Amino acid sequence: MTELPQGWGVRPSTNIPTIAFGNQKGGTGKTTATINSAAALASRGHDVLAIDMDPQADMTKGLGLGPGDENNPSSPKNDLPNTLATDDANLLDVLVDNPRTHDTTLSEIVLHADEYDHLNFDLVPSHKDMGLARDWMDDASARLTLKTALEELVADSHEYDFILIDCPPDLSVLTDAAFIAAQNVFLAAQTQATSRDALDDLWDQLESIEDNQQIEIAIVGLLANMYRDDGQSKKFLDEFDNSYASLAPIFKLPMRVAIQRAWDNGCDIFEWEDANEQQVERDLFIEIAETMERAFDKTQVEA
Ligand SMILES: Nc1ncnc2c1ncn2[C@@H]1O[C@H](COP(=O)(O)OP(=O)(O)OP(=O)(O)O)[C@@H](O)[C@H]1O
Ligand SMILES: [Mg+2]
Repeated sequence: MTELPQGWGVRPSTNIPTIAFGNQKGGTGKTTATINSAAALASRGHDVLAIDMDPQADMTKGLGLGPGDENNPSSPKNDLPNTLATDDANLLDVLVDNPRTHDTTLSEIVLHADEYDHLNFDLVPSHKDMGLARDWMDDASARLTLKTALEELVADSHEYDFILIDCPPDLSVLTDAAFIAAQNVFLAAQTQATSRDALDDLWDQLESIEDNQQIEIAIVGLLANMYRDDGQSKKFLDEFDNSYASLAPIFKLPMRVAIQRAWDNGCDIFEWEDANEQQVERDLFIEIAETMERAFDKTQVEA
């Protein structure tokens, strides 16, 4: 592993280590990495909050809190509430200055792990209304609303050890809001030619946010996902190494069926049990969690 100094992550205004999982390219493993890093940190005794900033709501659905699975009547997802379709206050109300709901705070919409058997960490779910965010968050100050909402949450004595944010596959206002609030980014990429170009664009975006907001942003890790043992994967892993290894550790995750199965069953890979075949990915996400502890000079919490 690359020898980076202890504590290279950036503490945002809340002083709580906060990490946004980003890449504007679709299907690279951002949501998989958010869910399972959150679960790995929780398994090491940390109090974790995960926030689903994606209007596609894959993290919320992947944790079973979406519409259920009509093709599979025995799916555990069918027994859980659909938090995406409620008329209650939701994440969009927190993020936009809406006269009807402008007092909505994050603490009102957090789902607490102790109220759900299958959840290992707290979750701010996405919502069907989040599709309107790009239209309603059209002025520069909208990019700061997640940061402000997290400051209020922490002031309201919600002292998490880590906050993880799943970004949508774009460089929209929602992604900017997540990067500004977190000031730490975990990149999820596939080892393919198109990934390199996407990461170059993402890099430019991060530099422009640093300039505009006068903040520092750290990279805390890069997941080389769906890695195959072939020449093409190896070539792009070498490129990632040349560009990013001095900034952050790089983790290789091969194609693993347990990731998909855990998802189908509405849980993370630490919650999901089938014949021990998920040990490879559990070990990898524990390694990622240890790296996040090191990035913020934190240690495992004794049970
Ligand atoms: N290593 C892996 N092995 C097998 N399946 C994987 C792996 N990583 C991710 N997947 C599956 O690939 C799909 C895309 O992954 P995921 O949703 O995490 O990507 P994403 O970057 O969040 O996508 P989007 O850009 O749409 O938000 C999901 O069905 C997920 O379960
Ligand atoms: Mg996703």
